[in-house]
Amino acid sequence: MKHLLSAGDLSLDEALLILDTAETMRETNARTIRKLPALRGRTIAIMFFEDSTRTRLSFEAAAKRLSADILNFSAKGSSLSKGESLKDTAQTLKAMGAEAFIVRHQASGAAHRLAASSWIDAPVINAGDGTHQHPTQALLDAFTMRRHLLGADRLGKDLSGKHVVIVGDILHSRVARSNVDLLHTLGAKVTLVAPPTLMPVGVQAWNCEITYDLDEAIAEGPEALMMLRVQHERMSAAGGGYFPSPEEYHRAYGLDLARSNALPEDAIVLHPGPMNRGLEISAEAADIDKSVVVEQVQNGVYVRMAVLYLLLAHGEEAA
Ligand code: NCD
Repeated sequence: MKHLLSAGDLSLDEALLILDTAETMRETNARTIRKLPALRGRTIAIMFFEDSTRTRLSFEAAAKRLSADILNFSAKGSSLSKGESLKDTAQTLKAMGAEAFIVRHQASGAAHRLAASSWIDAPVINAGDGTHQHPTQALLDAFTMRRHLLGADRLGKDLSGKHVVIVGDILHSRVARSNVDLLHTLGAKVTLVAPPTLMPVGVQAWNCEITYDLDEAIAEGPEALMMLRVQHERMSAAGGGYFPSPEEYHRAYGLDLARSNALPEDAIVLHPGPMNRGLEISAEAADIDKSVVVEQVQNGVYVRMAVLYLLLAHGEEAA
């Protein structure tokens, strides 16, 4: 594994190696001195061409916990300068010593383009490209599911036999695409739920089931329910019109207390954040015991530590 571009590129063994390594990273959290020397003296570029807080901070925290030096670049590129600014920025940071590149970009395919180019010869980690992929999000979701759904005996295990329901703005969601890919590799059954206007064309070919009825999907008793953010910023260009009104969306596709109570007792509720409280999830439902949203954020650091460690330090120095 040289890059991490898409959750769909991971074999079962690679996915399990990352998840198990993340468990080791999690254990280091209990130490008094949490910093590990694994990437001491190594320089990592974090290039964000699209707004983000938690993902950027999470990668930064992960790199720092491994003692790496960071070159942080953030800018919102205009669509015209996309290709050039990506190339120029990467080459500039490479010239300053960057040995790995974490990239978020509004254009689908940006991370692949960087990895396939001759601009840099270094590992590229996709931190979200357009509506396409966000592999570390899928890994942190799977890590969180494994902890809750498999318990203490989870090392080396996949999610066979588990049922995950993903609800909401599938059309614009790189989180949904990445999760469908990874959960399929991990043997879980996935059901996507959305209004027809927010289902992507060709979704029938994905490795999952599809329904337009949230209550029906909940009645199947899934072990995990993932609510997606309604991505307003990706809707404005087309003038909206994906659903009649926020109230109507919430009524048909939002998670409220009645729906969360209808879930199995030990089911978990996930959300990649940031949440639109009152839209895809009610304010009360966002804070129920079944919600693992805060834990997802914490697990994101361990999973990103594992990815950085495996891509950059593997075989060189023990953590
Ligand atoms: C997700 C993203 O950026 O794709 N959020 C995240 O990584 N924290 C999901 C979203 O923005 O809705």
